[in-house]
Amino acid sequence: MMDAGRHPLIKLMSYSEIEDVNGYVGNFKVTVRKKARYVDETVCNSCGECEKVCPAIHPDEFQMGLATRKAVHLPFPQAVPSAYLINMENCLGTNPIACGKCAEVCEKNAINYDMQDEIVVLDIGAIVVATGIDVYDPTQQDEYGYTRFQNVITSMEFERLICAGGPTVGHLVRPGDHTTPLRIGFIQCVGSRSLRDGAGFCSNICCMNTVKDTLLIRDHYPDAECSVFYIDIRAFGKGFEDLYDKSREAGVKYIRGIPGEITEDPATGNLRMVVENTTTRSIEEHEFDMIVLSVGVRPRADGGDIRRHLTLSQTSDGFLMEAHPKLKPVDAPTRGVYIAGCAEAPKDVKESVTQASAAAARAGVLLNAGKVTVEAITCTIDNDLCHGCGACEKVCPYGAITVDKGAKTAAVVEAACAGCGTCGSACRFDAITMRHFTDAQIVAQVDALLAERQSGKVIVFACNWCSYAGGDTAGTSRMLYPASNRLIRTMCSGRISEEFVLRAFRKGAPIVLVSGCHFADCHYIDANRQTVKRVYRLWKQLEKLGIRTERLQLEWISAAEGPKFQKTMREMEELRAQVTQEEIDHTVKVLTEQFEKRRLKKVRS
Ligand code: FES
Repeated sequence: MMDAGRHPLIKLMSYSEIEDVNGYVGNFKVTVRKKARYVDETVCNSCGECEKVCPAIHPDEFQMGLATRKAVHLPFPQAVPSAYLINMENCLGTNPIACGKCAEVCEKNAINYDMQDEIVVLDIGAIVVATGIDVYDPTQQDEYGYTRFQNVITSMEFERLICAGGPTVGHLVRPGDHTTPLRIGFIQCVGSRSLRDGAGFCSNICCMNTVKDTLLIRDHYPDAECSVFYIDIRAFGKGFEDLYDKSREAGVKYIRGIPGEITEDPATGNLRMVVENTTTRSIEEHEFDMIVLSVGVRPRADGGDIRRHLTLSQTSDGFLMEAHPKLKPVDAPTRGVYIAGCAEAPKDVKESVTQASAAAARAGVLLNAGKVTVEAITCTIDNDLCHGCGACEKVCPYGAITVDKGAKTAAVVEAACAGCGTCGSACRFDAITMRHFTDAQIVAQVDALLAERQSGKVIVFACNWCSYAGGDTAGTSRMLYPASNRLIRTMCSGRISEEFVLRAFRKGAPIVLVSGCHFADCHYIDANRQTVKRVYRLWKQLEKLGIRTERLQLEWISAAEGPKFQKTMREMEELRAQVTQEEIDHTVKVLTEQFEKRRLKKVRS
C-alpha cells in the first residue's frame, strides 16, 4: 500500500466514492466524490497532536469497537495517505459549542472545518473492481448468545485481540473481565452454509483462519486449551493440510458437531454448551472461558451501486459474476471491466493476489494495445426505420444504445455492444440488424426446418453459450435424444423474438422450445430476463387465440447439463406426440389471419 501510495503513476483516492460511470471500454468517464476530510492531507504530518486534545470519544470501527478513537483520527495505523480526518458526525465542531481544539494545536494549519466534498471526473481506459466483502453479523441469529454474553466474540474481534496492533497490544483477554481465557471454543460456519442464515455457500476462509488462530493461541499461551466445533474442515489449499495436522498435533481438539445453544454462568462469566459429537455419536457438555464464532462472509451490502454503474451481473449468492468461469475468470461481462478479490467470491489472500495480478495484467494488455477489437457480432441501426421509441435502449444490458427521442434516431457504441441481440428482438420497426444473426437468417432456418413433415418436428431455439453447448455435451457424451428436435442457434436467448416463435407456429410447428442459460448465468449480464418477459407475453397471446400454452416451452440448460438437455429433448418429443393435427391446423389458421391483419395495418400506416 505504501509503495502504491509513492508510485508516480498511481493516483490513490482514499475516502472517495464512485458517483457515476459513463462511456465504454477505453473511454470510461468516472465521476468520483472525494469526501471532505476536514484535514488537508497534503499538509498533515500525522503528528497526532489534534487527536490528543480532541474531547469527542467514539468506538473505533477498525478495532471492532474494542477500543475508542477520537472524532479526529487516523483510520488505522498503516493508512495511506498517512493523514488524519475528522468524522463530522462525531465532531463537536465550532458551533453551537465552541471547540476547535484540534485547529488550535495544529502547527501545520491543516484543519479546515469549511472543507467541502469534491467532485472529480476522470478519463479511464479500464476498471478493476475490487470492492471486497462484508462479514456476517451474528446478531441476526442469537442462539450463540453473541448479544447477551460478553465472552462470546466473533473471529474478527478475536483477530483484533490477538494482534500486536490491537487494543490489547496482542494480549488475549476475554472482554467480560479482562482475564486471559484458558479454555477457548471455536464454532465454525456461523452464517455460512446455512440457508436459514441467508448464505448457502462456504465462506472459504474460516476453517484455515481458525486453524491459524488455534496455533497462535497454543504458541502464545501453551496452557490454553482449544476446541473447534465443525461440520467438516476444508483444508484444501497448498500447505493447508499440514497446518491442520500441526494444529491437531499441538493438542487442539476438533469435534465434529455444531452446538445447539450456549448458556452463561452469571457468577463466573463462563460459557456452557451441549453438542452432539457426530463422530462418537454421543452428547457432550463443554465449558469454556471464551467462545469465538467463526463468522462467514457476505457480498457487500452496498454492492448494488457499483453493479448498476458498471452494468455488472451477480451470481445467486450476490457476488459479482465473471464473463466466463473458466475462460475469462477475471473479466466482467462489460468490456474493459475486470474483477479481483472477494467481490467475485470468498477467497483467501493468496487467491485474491493471484486474481488481482491477473486483472491488472488483463487491463494492462488492453491499455497497451491502444485500440480495441470490436465483436464481429454487433447490432447496426437503420435510422430511416427507427422511430426513436427507446425500446432497444431499455433492454440493452450494456447501455450501448442511446436514443435521441427528438430526432427519432438511435446510435449504438459498437465497442460496448456484446452482440446479445436483445435490442433486435425488442425493435418493432425492424430498424436493428444483428450481424450474422439477422432476422432473415433465422426466419430462413425456421422455414427450412418446417418445409416438410411439420407435425414431426420440435423447434428448439438455443443460446450459444449454454443450451446449445448443453446439446454438444449430450452429443459428445453419446446421449441419444429424439431426432424430432431441431435446433436453431442464437448467441443469447434474448435474441429470440416473439416473431420467430409465432412464425414457427404459423409454419406448423407442434412444439417450440425457447432455451438459454440459467438465471444469473446469461453471458450477456441479464439479457435472459427479457426472454422470460417475452415468453410470458407469448403465452398470454396464445391463450387469447385459443392455442394451448404448453406448446411453447421455456427451459434453462447449462453447458454442463448434457443429461438435462437429453431429458428435455425427450420431454419435448412426448409433448409433440400429444399435439393433434387439428390443433396445428387451427394454430396455423389463426396465426396466419393475425399476421395478415398486422401486415395490412403496417402497409396502410
Ligand atoms: Fe445464454 Fe443469454 S447467453 S441466455
